[in-house]
This record gives sequence, C-alpha cells and structure tokens, in this order.
Amino acid sequence: MTKVYNSAQGYDLMAGDYDGKKGEKLAFLNSFEEGEFLAMIGGVNGKKVLDVGCGTGRLVGDLLREGAEVYGVDVSEKMVEAAQKKFGRAKFEVADACDLPFENESFDVVVAAFLIVHLKKPEDFFAEAYRVLRDGGVFVVSNINQKKAPLLKAGGSREKFYIDSHYHIPKHVLEKLENEFFKIEDEKFVYEGKAWVNQVIKARKV
Ligand SMILES: C[S@@+](CC[C@H](N)C(=O)[O-])C[C@H]1O[C@@H](n2cnc3c(N)ncnc32)[C@H](O)[C@@H]1O
Repeated sequence: MTKVYNSAQGYDLMAGDYDGKKGEKLAFLNSFEEGEFLAMIGGVNGKKVLDVGCGTGRLVGDLLREGAEVYGVDVSEKMVEAAQKKFGRAKFEVADACDLPFENESFDVVVAAFLIVHLKKPEDFFAEAYRVLRDGGVFVVSNINQKKAPLLKAGGSREKFYIDSHYHIPKHVLEKLENEFFKIEDEKFVYEGKAWVNQVIKARKV
C-alpha cells in the first residue's frame, strides 16, 4: 500500500527538489496566487513578519526585498535548512504551526501559504497566529482547493507516497478565523476556468 507520511517526513524527502531545477516548481506555485497573496499583505517595510510553513522560503525573498524583518518556521528540518541556505538574512527554525516558539504579540504580520491543507485542525494554528500577532496585526493565509493529495516521488527515489492532507471548505475557513477573533478584511479566489483553485484571505487581529 502507498505510504502516507506526515509533513515533517514527507517534506524532508521533498526538500531537495521542492524548487525545481530552475525554480520552475516555485513558479507553478506562484501561478496559484496570481500576485494576490503578496498584494494582500500590503507594505511590510520595517515590519516583523513571520512565515509559517515557510518551506524553502518562496515568499521570503520578496518580503526581504520590501524591507521586512523575516522569520520563518516549518515542521520539516530539511525545508528549514534549504530556506536558511537561500536567505541568510532571515531567521528560520523548526517548529509546529500549532505550537509557535514565540512570545505573545511578537509580530506585525503572519503569513501562511499552502500550509493549512496539511493541518487537520487549522483553528489550532489560527489561535497561535492570533496569539503571536500584535493588536492590529495582519494575517494572510491561503487555502488550496485540493480534495485529494497528489501522489509524490522524491528526487532519485522510486518510492511513491502521499503527504497527509486535509481539504477545507472556504466558508469554514472564514468561520474558524472569526471564531478565533480575527476580523476578515479581504477574500480573493484564484480560478482555473470556472473552478476555484486557491482562496486567499486577509484577516486582522482586532
Ligand atoms: C506546500 S508547502 C508550502 C511552503 C511555502 N509556504 C510555499 O508557499 O512554498 C507546505 C509546507 O508546510 C509545512 N508544514 C506542514 N505542516 C506543518 C506544521 N504543522 N507546522 C509547520 N509547518 C508545516 C511543510 O513542511 C511544507 O514545508
């Protein structure tokens, strides 16, 4: 039977090949955002930004370029290593989204792209995002429309596997954010034809 790995195991296997040889896999992920994700964050110059489930730092370069002080966490040690190698100016560490190793109210902005598909209970992460944000802080989170996890293969290995994933209905994501006291400020959908492929939400700690 095909193995199902948890995110730490699965992304450790995927880390070496996550970006693609010429960054083409990152460009593919970018296409699910159509620039909406970074636009929704707004200006980050001089702001302290936490990227949760940062992977190899797909968003980090832009955040640094715009003048943010960037922190990243990811449950996969190998993804964190890859991100740190690419972006020496940001600070990365291995941590679970649902148990963030930061003091209350430490960040102006928290972002999480393509993360909650791996969380069974995204509300546990939303509560943590709320806790580490300062009052008035911004949370931008995306929710990919993935009803079935893709079958993956890492680097040179022949083994095929899935990474534990969970589909989240857009309306439920909004409700869960509101239940954790966030105020929803914006919601955009990226479409492929008539089907939505990604929900991007901007919420604020009020
Ligand atoms: C699809 S990748 C997205 C990476 C990056 N945000 C991007 O947009 O390219 C999902 C990432 O979330 C991380 N992840 C999954 N579950 C996590 C958790 N509970 N806590 C922290 N990171 C997690 C994975 O290790 C992986 O790096």
